[in-house]
Amino acid sequence: MKNRVIIFDTTLRDGEQALMASLTVEQKLRIARQLARLNVDVIEAGFPLSSPGDFESVTTIAREVKGPVICGLARLIEKDIVTCGKAVKPAERARIHTFIGTSAIHTEKKLRMSENDILDRVTRSVKLARRLCGDVEFSAEDAGRTGPDFLCRVVETAIAAGATTVNIPDTVGYTTPEHFAKIFDDLFNRVPNIDKAVISVHCHNDLGMATANSLTAVSHGARQVECAVNGLGERAGNAALEEVVMAIKVRKDLFRIATGINTKEIMRTSKLVRDICAMPVQANKAVVGANAFAHSSGIHQDGMLKAKNTYEIMTPQSIGLKETRMNLTSRSGSHMVKTRLLDLGYREEEFDLDELYARFKALADKKGTVYDDDLITLVEAKSHEDLGDRFVLEYLNVSSGTGTVPTATARILVDGKVHQEAACGDGAVDAATNAIDRITGYKLTIENYRLDSITGGREAQGRVLIVGRCDEGVFTGTGTSTDIVEASAFAYMDIVNKIARMKRFRRKLPRQKGD
Ligand code: KIV
Ligand code: ZN
Repeated sequence: MKNRVIIFDTTLRDGEQALMASLTVEQKLRIARQLARLNVDVIEAGFPLSSPGDFESVTTIAREVKGPVICGLARLIEKDIVTCGKAVKPAERARIHTFIGTSAIHTEKKLRMSENDILDRVTRSVKLARRLCGDVEFSAEDAGRTGPDFLCRVVETAIAAGATTVNIPDTVGYTTPEHFAKIFDDLFNRVPNIDKAVISVHCHNDLGMATANSLTAVSHGARQVECAVNGLGERAGNAALEEVVMAIKVRKDLFRIATGINTKEIMRTSKLVRDICAMPVQANKAVVGANAFAHSSGIHQDGMLKAKNTYEIMTPQSIGLKETRMNLTSRSGSHMVKTRLLDLGYREEEFDLDELYARFKALADKKGTVYDDDLITLVEAKSHEDLGDRFVLEYLNVSSGTGTVPTATARILVDGKVHQEAACGDGAVDAATNAIDRITGYKLTIENYRLDSITGGREAQGRVLIVGRCDEGVFTGTGTSTDIVEASAFAYMDIVNKIARMKRFRRKLPRQKGD
């Protein structure tokens, strides 16, 4: 155990309690199954006494999810502990996690209990939990603001009563790494039975130090880290699982310890949690943000082309991402533009790099990011002038509303011939794009969808930007209308016409790599 850190995931408990809407049993089960694939050691599945729905979720996960320990939360109150014991009982390996506030702020103001009353309650309740379950975790809530003497007494009492794990939470994200190191050193030096339990850490991110504090605790003896996917959790969230795990992996030279996490499942888990919890991940979020493996600066891109470790401390593959992304912007050098064109299948003799790069810079200054389709248009610009759109949207009718399946009918001229198709979808835009797909035969994955209002008032014009991916590459399309669905359809048509143009060029000038 000395060289292994237990990863205790609390996405479904601390993370879920911070969401706008509770998750259903099915949603929690899907996340729990993915957490098992990620190979977390412990899943804190919920707080069984808090609602019948939470009880149901915890007990379902306990019954269905194999591998990790399944844990439920309980206050240091008999009925909480008994209910929790029932909920986790079906698990292969079950844990009851029970807690009480220990800082003066909590004991005096919230609980109105003396220190001796708290110690007495710890003994009785931990003993009760141990009679119900062999694996019992005790948390000293607000340990970060608990006086050192009392914290040592609480920890000693919990272990003496049978707690197998004792958790030291920084409930309000108040500590700093140095302060936290002192708390852990104190515990390890002063609590006589400290070696009889696993010492755990649980940090909140109110001052942005949750990961740093958790890692400091590991360096000072903690062997369990409580964390949540994408850093979800109360207020500013908990320590992010992906940050803790990747820091331990990337800096194994410092930590000399490992987790059992299958890091290649990190990205998939992050996306699933993002989608099910409807909690977006900021683009510059460490490890799992959209920009975490994207390079924009020309100097960085040049370095990356020469050696990946110039600007990447971990590989995208190590967290389950396919590849690094190079954003083509006005800061990109000509070397990067040339590399991208070669990747797209062009041969060097097909473009004049100096001339093309000048036009690229002008476009990038106007547009920001230059996507693959923009780059192709730049290369093919002369021939484009006499090429019209292959697909022309003549008519689009979409019906959607509460209780009806969104349906769309599209009529499109394909090379001048009329084609009409109808399709349903998850929403009005999905139905419209499905109807268009049926006619064009292209299958696009929408990677990004953005709607901006470009005029004011009720009849505001909306501009939709879609970034779509298909076998031919990544394309962007824009469309404008007072009707959002129509603007989306126009943006989508913009993309399909770009694909058609590209296919036409490819037929004329087949230049796949290796030709
Ligand atoms: O932040 C906290 O103190 C908690 C405990 C219940 C562990 O979430
Ligand atoms: Zn918490």
